[in-house]
Amino acid sequence: MSESIRNHQASLEISDLQTYYGNSHILQGCSLKVGKECVAVLGRNGMGKTTLMRSIMGLIPPEGGSIRWQNIELSKKEPFEIAKLGIGYVPQGRRLFPSLSVDEHLSLTYRKTGQEGTWDPARVYALFPELANRRKISGTRLSGGEQQMLAIGRALVINPSIILLDEPSEGLSPIAVDLVIDTCRKLRKENISILLVEQNIHVAEALADHVYIMLSGKTVFDSEANKFLENLELREKYLGL
Ligand SMILES: Nc1ncnc2c1ncn2[C@@H]1O[C@H](COP(=O)(O)OP(=O)(O)OP(=O)(O)O)[C@@H](O)[C@H]1O
Ligand SMILES: [Mg+2]
Repeated sequence: MSESIRNHQASLEISDLQTYYGNSHILQGCSLKVGKECVAVLGRNGMGKTTLMRSIMGLIPPEGGSIRWQNIELSKKEPFEIAKLGIGYVPQGRRLFPSLSVDEHLSLTYRKTGQEGTWDPARVYALFPELANRRKISGTRLSGGEQQMLAIGRALVINPSIILLDEPSEGLSPIAVDLVIDTCRKLRKENISILLVEQNIHVAEALADHVYIMLSGKTVFDSEANKFLENLELREKYLGL
C-alpha cells in the first residue's frame, strides 16, 4: 500500500486486519492510521467498510492483525470496553430502537458508560435543538436527519476522542446532509478525530484530510484527500465516479 508521509502521531493504528463472517474472509489486510484529523474510507458497495468499523468496535472480532488505540490493543476487547476507551460509533443505518424515546437513547448510553467529560444529554440537546423538542417520542419516529443527529448524540455522550461514522449522509435530504457536515466540523474544532465512511463524495470532500480506498477487503491506496478527490482517473478507477 502506498503510505504517504504524514506529520503526526496517530492515535488509531490498524495493521493488516483480517476478519471473517463464518468461512467468508472479508477483511484481507486492512491498514490505516488516524491522528487528530478526519480520515475517510472510501470504496464501492460491499468492499468491507462496515466490516472494518464493526471490527474496530469489537462487534466482529478480527482474527488477525492489530488495532492499536492510544497504544492499547483493542482486537481482543469487548465492545463496551472499546467504547469506554473513548471510541464513539455511529453505525450505518443509525440503529436506533423503536422502544426507546429520544431521551432514553441518550440517558441510557450516558449512564451505562459513566464517562467523565462535557458531553451529557443536555449538551446534545443544545447542539441539536430540534431533538430537545422531541425528546419523549420514539427514536425511530424522527425524520431521517433527526435520527442521524440522535445517533451522533448517542455516540457523543460517551465523551469520545474519536468518532466512527459509517455513511452518515445515507438516505438524507440535502439540508440534513449539510447539518451532518456542520456537526462534523464542530466536532473537529473540539479536537475529536473522525473516521468517516462515505459514498457521498461531496461529504468526503467537505470533511476529509486524508483518504483510504478499500477494494475487496483491503486498503489498496491512500492519499491526502484533495489529491485523490481532484484526480478524476483515480475516482473512476476506485469509486466508479
Ligand atoms: N453478516 C454477514 N454475513 C456474511 N457476509 C456478510 C455479512 N455482512 C456483510 N457481509 C459481506 O461482507 C462483505 C463486506 O460487507 P460490508 O457491509 O462490510 O461492505 P461495505 O463496504 O460497508 O458496503 P456498503 O457500501 O454497501 O455499505 C460483502 O461481500 C458482504 O456481502
Ligand atoms: Mg457499509
